[in-house]
Amino acid sequence: MSEKTSERKLPTSSINIRMLSLNRPQEIRAILESNIINGQHLPIISEIEAVIKRMHDSVNNPDNFPRFLVATSSDGAVAGVMGLNRINEDLINRGIDAETTIEIINAYVDTNITRNGVGGELLTNLRHIAVTLGFKRVAVISGPRFKEKGHEFWTKHFGKPIDTLKSYYGDGNDAKLWLYQLPEANFYKPDMSPSLGNTALEHK
Ligand SMILES: CC(C)(COP(=O)(O)OP(=O)(O)OC[C@H]1O[C@@H](n2cnc3c(N)ncnc32)[C@H](O)[C@@H]1OP(=O)(O)O)[C@@H](O)C(=O)NCCC(=O)NCCS
Repeated sequence: MSEKTSERKLPTSSINIRMLSLNRPQEIRAILESNIINGQHLPIISEIEAVIKRMHDSVNNPDNFPRFLVATSSDGAVAGVMGLNRINEDLINRGIDAETTIEIINAYVDTNITRNGVGGELLTNLRHIAVTLGFKRVAVISGPRFKEKGHEFWTKHFGKPIDTLKSYYGDGNDAKLWLYQLPEANFYKPDMSPSLGNTALEHK
């Protein structure tokens, strides 16, 4: 694990979480371009375009998956993004139950402000949405590119990965799999949530 070199610059009270609207597309793109990079630190355009398309689809179809949240700072600037999606065939074939398990996808925070709680706030709110939708467990798959920051983040929240998915991202590119039982799912009562989206975002 790398040393934490600076104190928090961004109090969590100044982070706002809302559903993705893509009204600041350039800022979302900038966050993806600084995070989805190859070994030469260049943006992987095809992957970035695929994520942006997925985000557009979600905005156009807000009642379905995937669903994304964005974090904004007090001046409205986009600070990070994170989404939920139904688990894929690969996980289903491994015996993971799609009815009760939801996958966390595309977790990216502005590289200038990581380790300031933005990712944690996004995750807290996504967990709340997951539970209000009736899910009991979350899955995360993360490849070697995100070993340092990403794997540490998931391990901090979900404990050690439960499995290594061999060559999941192509030859020799293994992924780690986290599967985490959401304790809050045990005490959540559906009638606490008259409106899904609002309840999720009021939870802070
Ligand atoms: C993973 C990510 C979304 C977390 O967002 P964040 O705003 O930094 O998260 P938080 O501030 O809430 O939590 C920080 C935790 O993440 C982990 N972490 C983040 N950056 C780290 C780094 N450079 N070195 C080690 N751990 C790191 C640590 O567990 C850290 O906890 P700590 O600060 O108490 O030690 C963000 O670091 C990111 O965008 N990383 C690059 C893309 C990525 O890896 N995405 C996941 C793909 S599966």
